[in-house]
Amino acid sequence: MTTTRNRVAVLHGVNFDILDRRDPEVYGGLSLHELEQRVADWAHELGLEPIFFQTNAEGAFVEYLHRLPDLADAALINAGAWSHYSRAIADALDVARLPAVEVHLSDVENRDEWRKVSVFDGLVLAKIVGRGPDGYREALALLAEELGVAA
Ligand code: DQA
Repeated sequence: MTTTRNRVAVLHGVNFDILDRRDPEVYGGLSLHELEQRVADWAHELGLEPIFFQTNAEGAFVEYLHRLPDLADAALINAGAWSHYSRAIADALDVARLPAVEVHLSDVENRDEWRKVSVFDGLVLAKIVGRGPDGYREALALLAEELGVAA
């Protein structure tokens, strides 16, 4: 029997609950809810089943990653500022052993020096930056391909 592996966890880290209060020049002015709606629509178009999670607590993010293999087949991660320094989150993602793509709304390669660093290097299939919400669509397409999901 073959089971469909099409569940994608879309994880947002610190400060994404207030996405609509952050600099619209950098982040586009969308609320997290609006972003998640778009991601849900794109995921369904691709034949994926999205689940969403956001927290401002690093430990809660780590604990969610511990449970991830039971909840999802792949992950799309925008961990915000944690992406640049949280080795704890990187270690937890490593343990989860799921195909993952890192996304950033803004162009982290061309902002502050410290934003160029990613703790997810070597752990993710791809890092997509500076494409705004469309970067999420690209990430979902990569994950659908990786999971062998055809819409
Ligand atoms: C971000 C980029 C990070 O550097 C920043 O700390 C964020 C948002 C992005 O989506 O562009 O919180 O992850």
